[in-house]
Amino acid sequence: MHSNLKRLKKFEPEIENLLEEILEGLNKPQKELPSKLFYDKKGSSLFDEICDLDEYYLTRTETSIMIENIEDICSILGNNSLLIELGSGSSKKTRLLLSGLQSPAGYAPIDISEEHLISSVNILAHDYPNLKILPVSADYTQPFSLPKFDFIYSKKVVYYPGSTIGNFEPDYASQFLNSIGHRLGKRTGLLIGLDLKKDKKILEDAYNDNKGITAEFNLNVLVRLNSELDTDFNIEEWKHCAFYNSKEGRIEMHLESLSNQDVQVNGDIVTFRKEETILTEYSYKYSIDDFKNLISESYNLEKVWTDEDSKFGILYFTVK
Ligand code: AVJ
Repeated sequence: MHSNLKRLKKFEPEIENLLEEILEGLNKPQKELPSKLFYDKKGSSLFDEICDLDEYYLTRTETSIMIENIEDICSILGNNSLLIELGSGSSKKTRLLLSGLQSPAGYAPIDISEEHLISSVNILAHDYPNLKILPVSADYTQPFSLPKFDFIYSKKVVYYPGSTIGNFEPDYASQFLNSIGHRLGKRTGLLIGLDLKKDKKILEDAYNDNKGITAEFNLNVLVRLNSELDTDFNIEEWKHCAFYNSKEGRIEMHLESLSNQDVQVNGDIVTFRKEETILTEYSYKYSIDDFKNLISESYNLEKVWTDEDSKFGILYFTVK
């Protein structure tokens, strides 16, 4: 145990609530499963593989914007700020901030995948021996509390990279970020990564890679349900499907049933028609202006960094 690493704070999801959420989703006219189910241990490491794919420009582009502008970004975050990261995963991009910041007061990574979080913070604690690390394993869309910050810091900065906010429908995204702003109050910044609207072909390729890793990531949801809950999805009877819905400005990922089939879900039977789909993820794409307006109730936009093709944006807001 590293002395700079605080004990993990844990908020276990209620299994009954999860089961209820799953059954409710599978009983809608457009059947759906929550996208947070992607991130078990296997799914989190498949996601890391996705980030390295040629077609998945998001991570590469965001990282190079960070590298290019690291001094500017760190000077805006200032000395002695406290970083709180939503969905920290492997904390790869965060390392750029942790290395670039003068003296970060602390780092509180929040992630839904406990195992993944534990292994990432152990490596971080070793590599940044002077950094206070306060990990929280939680589904950050559900109620949870932050650790006690019993040390001095200049301001809080919520770091929300990766365009993960795109997983939520805009109304919910707005509500969610505005409520974080209210909760954390003044002297809070938000550094957020956003995938921007662009050519449909580039977007669709990013979610239909040649190696089939995204397909495996999507199908892993069913593998996981079979192993963690009492379900009997036949994985061979399902196919990955992802497309851009230009009207809504979002990528949609679905699992398509290859036959008429019945599936047991904890004692209930769910019936699928051939070609019927389960929606597993939305990934909304924004314009900078639309996003700025979406959260203008609580935030002022201070600065935008982007790449030369405006594929991806990193935006810095402060709470009003
Ligand atoms: C982690 C939510 C940003 O929407 O692009 C990657 C997840 N899904 N490939 C995204 C994902 C399919 C990713 N986010």
